[in-house]
Amino acid sequence: MQTKFTETFGVRFPIVQGGMGGVAGPDLVAAVANAGGLGILPIWLVSPENARELIKRTQALTNKPFAVNLRSDLEQVRLIETAAEAGITLFNLFWGDPSSSMPAIEACGGRLIATVGDLGAAKQAIEAGASALIAQGVEAGGHVLGEALRDQLVTELAAENFDVTIIAAGGLATADHVAHVISLGADAALLGTRFVVARESIAHPVYKNAIIAAEAGSTVRTSCFDGMWPNAPHRVLKNSTYEVWDAAGCQSEGLRPGEGNSILIYPDGSSFPRYSAMTPRVGMQGEIEASALYAGMGVGEIVEQQTAAEIIAELTSKL
Ligand SMILES: Cc1cc2nc3c(=O)[nH]c(=O)nc-3n(C[C@H](O)[C@H](O)[C@H](O)COP(=O)(O)O)c2cc1C
Repeated sequence: MQTKFTETFGVRFPIVQGGMGGVAGPDLVAAVANAGGLGILPIWLVSPENARELIKRTQALTNKPFAVNLRSDLEQVRLIETAAEAGITLFNLFWGDPSSSMPAIEACGGRLIATVGDLGAAKQAIEAGASALIAQGVEAGGHVLGEALRDQLVTELAAENFDVTIIAAGGLATADHVAHVISLGADAALLGTRFVVARESIAHPVYKNAIIAAEAGSTVRTSCFDGMWPNAPHRVLKNSTYEVWDAAGCQSEGLRPGEGNSILIYPDGSSFPRYSAMTPRVGMQGEIEASALYAGMGVGEIVEQQTAAEIIAELTSKL
């Protein structure tokens, strides 16, 4: 199926794999690209040297286009330049006004894909020069800036007839969901949580199994896991850390149950404490279940681990 998205970005299917720190590494992004979707490689949390390495590893696995994911609220010009030097032309920016990064993107002839949570942010991104908008509804897993429901946001943006591509995100998990958002006027569907359980994702197996076991209603948008990233609402599975924190009155830092405990531990002994925003990834040990298990409201319909190619084939089966 051709849409404005497939034509604009030169990919086969209107399916995007969301940028996900700690989940989407070169294997997943390349597998999505090779299967005809657009993969997004997060580089906002690494050094320019590591970003170059991640991009090169992805390029070694695919000759198809993919995007990199950066934060709008952080100074990321060096990362943009590094990615551009490595041949990247698609830049997905999230968390706020992307305008300060636009000169660096334009300088390399790149295109901006801006993640937005409301109409005001959409207008700001278009003003900055965005080619595409990811309309992220409040149903989304991970950090969620806006409060609008996905379908309302997509409908609102589609009605504006902006000269940009609209990508719907948040709580999508099935082929019916994908067909539905396209019928509302989206040009593509972005999925995050569904790709957390892809075989190629680097999410920890305990985390993947928690998503597969979760039912509708198992997620919450909260401020519980704010270590390293305060004042940033996020949607996670309600796990033991969340339940105990919630029962104790949702206290802030310094007053939270079990606050000092290291719960994610790397083989080299470095660790992250309870309430850290860190995603549990393969190779970590400790209380994986008690860490930030980011997940969107579509979890109830995610029932098995599959390859990225199988996921994309299934998601596009009703288009
Ligand atoms: C584990 C996880 C990590 C995420 N990390 C990022 C990130 O680093 N950058 C970003 O732009 N969005 C991030 N997100 C949000 C996704 O890009 C996307 O908007 C969201 O997953 C869509 O909702 P869904 O999970 O219900 O499909 C993350 C989401 C998850 C589930």
